[in-house]
Amino acid sequence: MCGIVAYIGNKPAQSLLLEGLKRLEYRGYDSAGMAILSDRLHITRAVGRVAMLEEAVARNPLAGTVGMAHTRWATHGDVSERNAHPHRDDKHGIALIHNGTIENYAPLKTYLQEKGHRFASDTDTEVLAMLVSELYDGDLETAVQSALREIRGAYAIAVICEKEANTLVVARKGSPLIVGIGDKEFVVASDGSAIVAHTTQVFELDDYQVCKLTRDDFRTSTLDNVPVTPKIRQLEMELEQIELGSFETFMMKEIFEQPEALRTTMRGRIDEHAGQVVLGGVGSYARDLVRARQIVLTGQGTAYHAAMIGQYLIEDLAKIPAKVEYASEFRYRNPIIVEGTVLIAVSQSGETADTLAALREAKERGALTMGAVNVVGSSIARETDAGVYLRVGPEIGVASTKAFTGQVMVLSLISLFLARRRFMSVDACEVMLEELSRVPDMIEKALAENDHIKRVTEKYCRNENWLFLGRGYNYPVALEGALKLKEISYIHAEGMPAAEIKHGPIALINDGMPAVFIANKGPQYDKVMLNIEQVKARGGRVIAVATEGDQNIKRHADDVFYIPDISDALSPLLTVVPLQLLACHAAKLRGHDVDKPRNLAKSVTVE
Ligand code: AGP
Ligand code: GLU
Repeated sequence: MCGIVAYIGNKPAQSLLLEGLKRLEYRGYDSAGMAILSDRLHITRAVGRVAMLEEAVARNPLAGTVGMAHTRWATHGDVSERNAHPHRDDKHGIALIHNGTIENYAPLKTYLQEKGHRFASDTDTEVLAMLVSELYDGDLETAVQSALREIRGAYAIAVICEKEANTLVVARKGSPLIVGIGDKEFVVASDGSAIVAHTTQVFELDDYQVCKLTRDDFRTSTLDNVPVTPKIRQLEMELEQIELGSFETFMMKEIFEQPEALRTTMRGRIDEHAGQVVLGGVGSYARDLVRARQIVLTGQGTAYHAAMIGQYLIEDLAKIPAKVEYASEFRYRNPIIVEGTVLIAVSQSGETADTLAALREAKERGALTMGAVNVVGSSIARETDAGVYLRVGPEIGVASTKAFTGQVMVLSLISLFLARRRFMSVDACEVMLEELSRVPDMIEKALAENDHIKRVTEKYCRNENWLFLGRGYNYPVALEGALKLKEISYIHAEGMPAAEIKHGPIALINDGMPAVFIANKGPQYDKVMLNIEQVKARGGRVIAVATEGDQNIKRHADDVFYIPDISDALSPLLTVVPLQLLACHAAKLRGHDVDKPRNLAKSVTVE
């Protein structure tokens, strides 16, 4: 998704905005632009990487101390310089940047054209800029409030005007926006990574809120100009967390961060002696959760795969009926929410539009809602009744890795929290918690296979079609492995339940086609062996993820990635690790940008 960064203070805005955009590059985009207010409004835009904008700006450096910059992820209008942001009006020297979509832009555009406005782009955003201009009567804050009352859709915006050199106006609805409070300066951005270098005192705008910033002060209000007092908090992020260090890519860094990240996820939440899980974020809702009649888990992409594992865990351990739904489907299918339903929204960013909408839909229908979210203060985290933060630190790589294992870890903790308060004995819970506490060390052993995994990947990375297969707890891991490979190496990969192979997909198997099987020592191991033989018999090549010490697998698979022995219920935390590494190596071997894959955004804040 796109990125917004804006500044008002006494420092030269240009270099600060460029640095901020670079911190937001991981969010995904196709073009970029900047507006600086000095003697007048200067706008520079470029298609492609932020580096292209940097070159364009270097050709005519600007001295202003108020400005804003944007990375665009096109939704209305093709990828071009004329459609890149900022967009400016044709009357008052107003510039605007926007993350989101304006659903009613077409009738508004017609209205504004009839008023004589002449448009230079095909975007919905330019319509908002012109609407602010049309309603401008000497006060930018009022004009923005009036314009936003006419808008349907999602937005995080920043607006400046030549006639108000000491003013920056920002607003949001549905797309994230954080305000950083400095010493006689403010930095506003889509997320904390563009702010943390300047200040850690921040606040988030809520939906339908506007904030007017000057060098000395700020004022937050509703669209009807009712003053509101934002909750100022400490940004929980350090600069080194969002820097590469000794790694070549953020994705590889985050794969290797998983042991430490999961130690942080568990810290303070496991009381091994009492055989208890302690979840502060559940608060007074514990009884409602334990008595839930149904638990619905929802998310998109990787978060959806983690939610699938959560469904297995909750039914298996807590014996509560559970189901998992794509948020994008759930929100529109008029779902039945019976009394005693709990919805768990799973999300790294906490800003995924479909997941946020599904959460709101369930809440309106009376469900108790929980979040399993990574970004503190994100929309989903703020709108759920209860929640458990992943605490895996900022995830910069577009392909989700440590957030996935963080989600699975949190869902494991939630399942054990419920199980222990329902039918699970203290001893049984102690055994699982003891094993859970050893998972980080076991992941370190799985990571030690990295060189071997890279060599095996070199053998197969030119194949254009792969299958990923698993059973039970590892069926979602097969889906996740396929998603990892396809989203960063652009190889077509399909995940499925291993048994499904013979109901059609086996027709795809041709000579040398790679099929990745998750064949850990689990209750369906023998069945997985049968499926492996079905693929081998048709000339397929089999890569197996197996439990260390398993010699039998070598008689069936062409290549083996070993993981430490672990109970089946907790095995996804390990079996996914070789698949993450495989995808990362395949993408690099195929010459792709591992951290910023084409067409993808880190957080999909539009439908
Ligand atoms: C996974 O690698 C992708 N980046 C994508 O599927 C992602 O998991 C999905 O968009 C959900 O994002 P969220 O966890 O921030 O809600
Ligand atoms: N809808 C706007 C456009 O297409 C903004 C998209 C974005 O969030 O980057 O330009």
